[in-house]
Amino acid sequence: MMTILFGPPGSGKGTQAEYITKRYALPHVSTGEMLRDEAEKGTPLGNEVAPIMAEGRLVPDDLIVRVIESRLREPDASHGVLLDGFPRTVPQAKSLDAMLRRMGRRVDLVLCLDVPEDKLIQRLLARAEQQGRADDNLETIQTRLDVYKRDTLPVLDHYRTQPGTAVECVDGDAPIEVVASRARDVIDRHYVDAA
Ligand code: AP5
Repeated sequence: MMTILFGPPGSGKGTQAEYITKRYALPHVSTGEMLRDEAEKGTPLGNEVAPIMAEGRLVPDDLIVRVIESRLREPDASHGVLLDGFPRTVPQAKSLDAMLRRMGRRVDLVLCLDVPEDKLIQRLLARAEQQGRADDNLETIQTRLDVYKRDTLPVLDHYRTQPGTAVECVDGDAPIEVVASRARDVIDRHYVDAA
């Protein structure tokens, strides 16, 4: 079960990942969380990526691909993972596909969350007040949304043309539990009902 949870900043990927990983007993692999963790610890990798993240830009593809490759080789990832925040560019997607092919696997499902831009901005500004995340300010949010539209959205089209990979979008502009139930329906249809 190799699933990509896809969507713009603030669409609820991290929030929904908690429900999904609990229900299906899957490891949650969030590149944003992994990088924030490195930055908090002040590791060489963290120090390299912190200023890039604070500006809302993407860290280099080769760097993040190495991080993911080593994570996917860990034993708990052998039955699949929920990827959140990766791949974020078409080159990252192609690297992931090649990596999975070498492991005899592939991306089974891309589940994307649709939320209008004004709601995304509202959610991220609200989170800024609650949590003070360094990249949740209006200027950086706008950069993140622009980067998403320019570099990340084409990843959906990439997967629409990959045999064996389903792309399904759900309306993410609803209360958290409602979105969770929509996501559950899609995942059950793909993995549980098909088994
Ligand atoms: P990352 O951490 O992946 O950030 P993001 O994609 O901008 O996503 P967010 O965490 O902001 O939003 P989310 O969709 O997870 O929503 P959430 O559930 O948190 O990446 C951060 C940075 O790391 C990037 O900018 C980049 O620099 C770097 N990076 C990471 N991966 C990379 C990669 N592959 N390549 C290159 N660089 C990479 O929800 C947001 C808020 O909304 C929360 O407060 C939540 O409570 C609320 N909320 C959620 N759902 C609902 C709902 N249904 N109704 C109302 N409120 C809701």
